[in-house]
Amino acid sequence: MTNNNIYFIANWKMYGNPASLNTINNVIKLTKSKKFSKIKIVYCPPYTLLGNFVKKTKKSKIFVGAQNCHYESEYGAYTGSINAKMIKYLGAKFVIVGHSETRKQGDTNNEINMKIKSALKSNLRIIFCIGESLYEKRKKKTKTVLLKQIKIGLKKIKNLQNLILAYEPLWSIGTGIVPKNIDLEKNINFIRKNLNKLKNGNRIKIIYGGSVNPNNVKNLSRIPGISGFIVGGASLNSKKFIDIIKKSII
Ligand code: PGA
Repeated sequence: MTNNNIYFIANWKMYGNPASLNTINNVIKLTKSKKFSKIKIVYCPPYTLLGNFVKKTKKSKIFVGAQNCHYESEYGAYTGSINAKMIKYLGAKFVIVGHSETRKQGDTNNEINMKIKSALKSNLRIIFCIGESLYEKRKKKTKTVLLKQIKIGLKKIKNLQNLILAYEPLWSIGTGIVPKNIDLEKNINFIRKNLNKLKNGNRIKIIYGGSVNPNNVKNLSRIPGISGFIVGGASLNSKKFIDIIKKSII
């Protein structure tokens, strides 16, 4: 991949405390180098650290995003929830929607569609995650599942240019297993073809997520049609994250 608008999303999941912020100093330094000036790094820490991250990265090119949001765009009686407006208010620019770990907690495709709409209303950019489970893959249902997630998730959404689609096979997340290049390429092509059928769908960038690490990233970045990565576990370690970035840019 060349360094033009390639996305590296650091998904910190339920990890991190205020002291963890210092670990990103070297990543901030990296973004100041000319060679990496055009890559886009988005840190998605837990809600508790969003404000700290915004402050910390203020003078850098790093963006900050949340890992989820509520589908209701106005304030309301939803104990324990945070909506897009609140995320925007903190200064974050992105939000992950539809991650399999939040789908597991009950998010349906319809709710994900509502979340995307409400995030767009708050002018957030969206990292929209889709992916099939191992069971679905074995049953040869991958295409059906992906298509349904795309169709319902993006139903009646106009500003698709503000979206990045992250393809994350569930069986690859946190397992150390990545798809074979040939299969990944096939699925990326399938997603691309279906996104292109939507108005402005060709503006959506596709990224890959699931066990991306410094050892496999070079190979993954050879796959045509991939414009970056969403990195979970390995993004908690700045050295590994930097390695991933360096190895994916040719
Ligand atoms: P992983 O997570 O890199 O630890 O597999 C990726 C993700 O869940 O976004």
